Amino acid sequence: MDINDLAAVAQQMVAPGKGIIAIDESSKTIKKRFDAVGIECTEETRRAYREMLLTTPNLGDHISGAILYDETIRQSTKTGQRFVDVMNAAGVLPGIKVDLGPVALAGFPGELVTEGLDGLRERLKEYVGLGARFAKWRAVITIGEDMPSSTCIETNSQLLARYAALCQEAGVVPMVEPEVLMDGSHDIETCYDVTEATLRSLYQALYEHNVVLEGTILKASMVIAGKDCDEQADVDEVAEATLMCLRTAVPAAVPGIVFLSGGQSDEMATQHLNAMNQMGPHPWPLSFSYGRAMQSAALKLWAKDMVGNFAAAQQTVALRAKENGLAALGRWTPDLAG
Ligand code: 13P
Repeated sequence: MDINDLAAVAQQMVAPGKGIIAIDESSKTIKKRFDAVGIECTEETRRAYREMLLTTPNLGDHISGAILYDETIRQSTKTGQRFVDVMNAAGVLPGIKVDLGPVALAGFPGELVTEGLDGLRERLKEYVGLGARFAKWRAVITIGEDMPSSTCIETNSQLLARYAALCQEAGVVPMVEPEVLMDGSHDIETCYDVTEATLRSLYQALYEHNVVLEGTILKASMVIAGKDCDEQADVDEVAEATLMCLRTAVPAAVPGIVFLSGGQSDEMATQHLNAMNQMGPHPWPLSFSYGRAMQSAALKLWAKDMVGNFAAAQQTVALRAKENGLAALGRWTPDLAG
């Protein structure tokens, strides 16, 4: 595929006022989410839940794409329409999680490395056949005592770069996601330093692997204090620190940056994105690729009554999409929240 085609898809992913819904939880992760609301995790409940999300009326108004899991990209609605076709009809680009998840990094207790490169060229070919237009790979960077090591950062950057190069070869836009975890008691300055080091390492690796930045999207974590840190920065401080870090480490050739929510509350994730966009203009559009912060309200409602609350759950998906879409323009206001 021509690099201009990849660049066009990347730009579509971060079109003004639109963002991504991440529904690519592995079967293990979605089981955790279902357990928390008392739903049995079976192939059919996973399918029914994702059908509820993907058939939300007018989803494409504020959602440019959805990241699916391997099982999900093969599934269909109750009436037999492939999810991918439903998405295309709604103007929502199909994306696919292609990493196989993080495992322990040998020799570095407490640190993680993401697996999934073996056979990726062939898997990408299959996903393209199934309709995928972009892909996602998540690397996990843990902050702790003497962590992260430079080995952890550099190994994950190399893997992200090899993944991204394979995606571009296959004609799908790589969404590169180096997530610096919010777990821990570290302060915001530590998160800043780790995020900057991670992004610098990532863009060096992408350069070395001949990845064309114009055909990529960055999925970033915000610069924020650890969950257990006594001192939490306010919304403007998080927004300013995140912007400064991105400006110093992310090339302007990148077509867009989308954030993960990483365990922030729905409203905080929206407020942070909104604050950053109010501080613009920036070298790149800043939008969202939220998982939990897009889904949690809907999951709770749907879990109580899968049939009776189907439409109400979809309304919360639509509302969260609208709120985050407005935040991507810096036009969100608190009265919009449900
Ligand atoms: P959260 O927004 O729940 O962090 O999920 C986004 C995601 O896709 C993480 O890889």
